Amino acid sequence: MIRTIKDIKFDGKRVIMRVDFNVPMKDGVVQDDTRIVAAIPSIEYIMAHGAMTLVLMSHLGDPSKDAKKAKEKAERDGKTWDEAKYIAGKHRMRPIAEYLAAKLGRPVVFAGEDGCFGKKAFIDSQAAGTIVMLENTRFHKEETSDDPVARDKLAKELATYGDVFVNDAFGTAHRDHASTASIAKFVPVSVGGFLMEKEVAYLEPMVTNPPKPMVAIIGGAKVSSKIAVLESLLRNASALVIGGGMAYTFLKAQGHTIGTSLVEDDQLDTARHIIDAAKKAGVKLVLPLDHVCADKFDAAATPVAVDGVDVPTGLMGLDVGPKTIAAYKAVIATAKSIIWNGPVGVFEFEKFAKGTGEVARLVAEATGRGAITVVGGGDSVAAVNKVGLAAQMSHVSTGGGASLELLEGKKLPGIEVCR
Ligand code: 3PG
Ligand code: MG
Repeated sequence: MIRTIKDIKFDGKRVIMRVDFNVPMKDGVVQDDTRIVAAIPSIEYIMAHGAMTLVLMSHLGDPSKDAKKAKEKAERDGKTWDEAKYIAGKHRMRPIAEYLAAKLGRPVVFAGEDGCFGKKAFIDSQAAGTIVMLENTRFHKEETSDDPVARDKLAKELATYGDVFVNDAFGTAHRDHASTASIAKFVPVSVGGFLMEKEVAYLEPMVTNPPKPMVAIIGGAKVSSKIAVLESLLRNASALVIGGGMAYTFLKAQGHTIGTSLVEDDQLDTARHIIDAAKKAGVKLVLPLDHVCADKFDAAATPVAVDGVDVPTGLMGLDVGPKTIAAYKAVIATAKSIIWNGPVGVFEFEKFAKGTGEVARLVAEATGRGAITVVGGGDSVAAVNKVGLAAQMSHVSTGGGASLELLEGKKLPGIEVCR
C-alpha cells in the first residue's frame, strides 16, 4: 500500500508530478502513447480537485548515453563531433507537451528548452489551474548522478515548484534519481498517482501474497536477466512456466540436446539450481515439450515442427509446439492468478509467434474466468498488444525494468517515497 493523491487536499496547492513519458519517438512524433494516456487519470483528478498549478516532469531517452554513443561513433568515423548540436534536436519534451495538451483538450504550457533550473518565477506567474511541463530532466547530470549531493541540488530546485510531490512514473520507479526519489526529501508530502497505485496493487501481491494457485510464466532470451525473478516467484507459484530462448539453457541442464538453440553455458548451474529449488518447493516446472524450429534465426526461415523435447542437430528452437501449449493450458486452467513476463518464442517473427499468441489467449481466458492476470515487461506487453488482448488482462504494466525489479522482491526508490 502506498499513500496516493486520494489522501491529499489539492485546493490551491502547487503540485509537482513525476511521470514516465519516456515514450518511443520518431522525428519528434510520439509512436506509442500508452504511458502518456496512463498518466491522464491522475492529471485530471489533480486539476479537478483545485490544484493551483501542476508541474509535470519526465525523462525522455537518455541524452548523455546517446551523446556518448554518438561521440564514439563520430570518433570511429573520424568525424568531428559537436555534442551541443547533436543533443539540440533530440530528447525534447515540447512535442510531448503538445501531444498531452491535445489528449487532455486543455493547454499544457512548456517551460522552455533551457532546462529545469530557475523555473519557480515562471511557474508561480501562471494563472490558477495551469499545467506546466518541464524539459527532459536528464539534460541535467544531477538527475542520474551517483552522488547524492549532486542529485539533491536538482531535487531541491524541483521541490520549490510544488507543495506536494506526486510520483506517477512507475516505469522509472526503479531509478534512484533526483526527480523520482531525492525530491521527496524536500517537499512536505509525497504520494503516488493512480498509475503508481495500480501498478503496485497488481504487481506487489505476486511476490507477497497472490491468489493461489499462482502461475508464473517467464520467457525471454536470457536466463541471466531472469534469475532473481525466477527465484522470487518460486516462493509463491504453484507452477513455473519457462519459455523462450532461456528455456534451452534449462533443457540442456537436464541433459537434452538443443541443437543450435540459444544457450548460456555459464548459466547451466543456475538452471540446475532453479530446477532443484522448484522440486523442493513442490512447484511444477513446465519446460518446452516440443518445438517449432528452424535452421537459422531469420523471419523468413522455414518452420520445422519437432515433436519431442530434444532438438535435432542443426536446428534451433524458435517457438513452442502444440504439446507445450497443451501443457500451458493445463496449468493455466486452475490458476487464480497469473504473472507473465517475457515471450515464449520469437514473436517478432510471424512464423514463430504462435506460442506467444496462444499464451496471450490462455491468459486472457483466465481473466474471463476470474483469475487475476498481470503482464509485465516490455516484450510480453508488446506481444499482448500485437494480438489485441491487452484489454482482457487484469493489468498490463507500463514498466519494463521497474516491473521486473518489483517482481524480484526489491524495494523501488520511487515507490518507497510514497509509503
Ligand atoms: C524505461 O523505459 O525503461 C523507463 O522509462 C526507464 O528508463 P531508463 O531505463 O532509461 O532508466
Ligand atoms: Mg530501460
